[in-house]
Amino acid sequence: MEDGIEMLLLDEPTRFLLSHEPNPRLNMLIGGTLTSVYGLWAMFALPGFRKVPFKLKVPFVPSSKVQTRNVMKLLEGRKGRLADLGSGDGRLTDLSRYNNVTAFLSPSTMEPLEVKLVSELPDDARVIVCRFPFPHWKPTSSEGTGLDQVWAYDVQSVRNRPTQNVKI
Ligand SMILES: C[S@@+](CC[C@H](N)C(=O)[O-])C[C@H]1O[C@@H](n2cnc3c(N)ncnc32)[C@H](O)[C@@H]1O
Repeated sequence: MEDGIEMLLLDEPTRFLLSHEPNPRLNMLIGGTLTSVYGLWAMFALPGFRKVPFKLKVPFVPSSKVQTRNVMKLLEGRKGRLADLGSGDGRLTDLSRYNNVTAFLSPSTMEPLEVKLVSELPDDARVIVCRFPFPHWKPTSSEGTGLDQVWAYDVQSVRNRPTQNVKI
């Protein structure tokens, strides 16, 4: 005589969980899931931290709409190429071809970034930074307040001024 429906419902999960027999489908599922998680991590997370010293690592925190609007205001009327540092995998590139640079990074990255930008950017470049101002450069202008505050720096005026500690 066949089992009633109650018996079948009780038996099936018990057999699945307690069985010591090899289960190729379950192994494939676990293998596939682990491979996908590793693939996503390797593609999106790993490159951001490759060869970057710990103090220069920046977590992913997206810009707010107000912050982006403030950046766009300080870029009004500007022409040429724009590089957004930190939009990609965290590696910095040859910046000499860019005359507009935006960055939303972290306090610890700002000082080394000052050195890199002033040595590579053309004279007509403008740099806009979000939330964390440069420690030594004097801003040309600023937009917004609090977490959404952004600062603009014109490289020519930075070069014309001796480096100083600026209190914002
Ligand atoms: C605060 S998020 C800003 C993300 C995006 N640009 C935005 O405004 O919404 C900082 C980004 O910088 C990247 N990053 C991490 N370490 C970095 C580094 N040392 N140099 C440049 N970018 C870095 C991260 O991957 C992250 O996407």
